[in-house]
Amino acid sequence: MEKPMNVCVLVGSLRKASLNGMLANALMSLAPSSMKLETVEIGQLPFFNQDLETESTPAQWTAFRQRVKAADAVLFVTPEYNRSVPAALKNALDVGSRPYGSSVWDRKPGAIASGLRCQSSSEAVARVSERADHAAARSLCRPCRQALR
Ligand SMILES: Cc1cc2nc3c(=O)[nH]c(=O)nc-3n(C[C@H](O)[C@H](O)[C@H](O)COP(=O)(O)O)c2cc1C
Repeated sequence: MEKPMNVCVLVGSLRKASLNGMLANALMSLAPSSMKLETVEIGQLPFFNQDLETESTPAQWTAFRQRVKAADAVLFVTPEYNRSVPAALKNALDVGSRPYGSSVWDRKPGAIASGLRCQSSSEAVARVSERADHAAARSLCRPCRQALR
């Protein structure tokens, strides 16, 4: 049997009862056997600070970068915060994008999903997509919110 595609899942909400966390869990349980989806935690990542990009780079950054780099693809599952990307997810995107020239998002296939209670998450999806595109991930699909309801 072929090795399953290794997909890391980044959830933009840190709260325990997160709807996006539930959506991520549902997607993980529904994944076909050809895909292995695993959550990669982002809440423990220290805020990106270029001063820390030294020989004593935070261990959490290194572990996160290695984990994403090893994945075949990345799935972002995120709410919208104030018409944009939640800070924790933006921080993870920043951490993964450095050092310059070694971005873990480089040529990484990506997809974005958003579970929400009300209104729209269109801005969050657009902003994650922009940031990921800028950091060189290729967004393969951007599910519309109707499809996720
Ligand atoms: C700080 C904050 C900002 C929010 N901003 C938006 C927003 O701009 N647009 C929107 O549709 N919902 C917004 N919401 C509502 C969230 O999308 C909603 O609470 C969602 O369920 C949060 O995701 P979670 O359940 O995965 O934690 C905001 C919620 C919070 C806490």
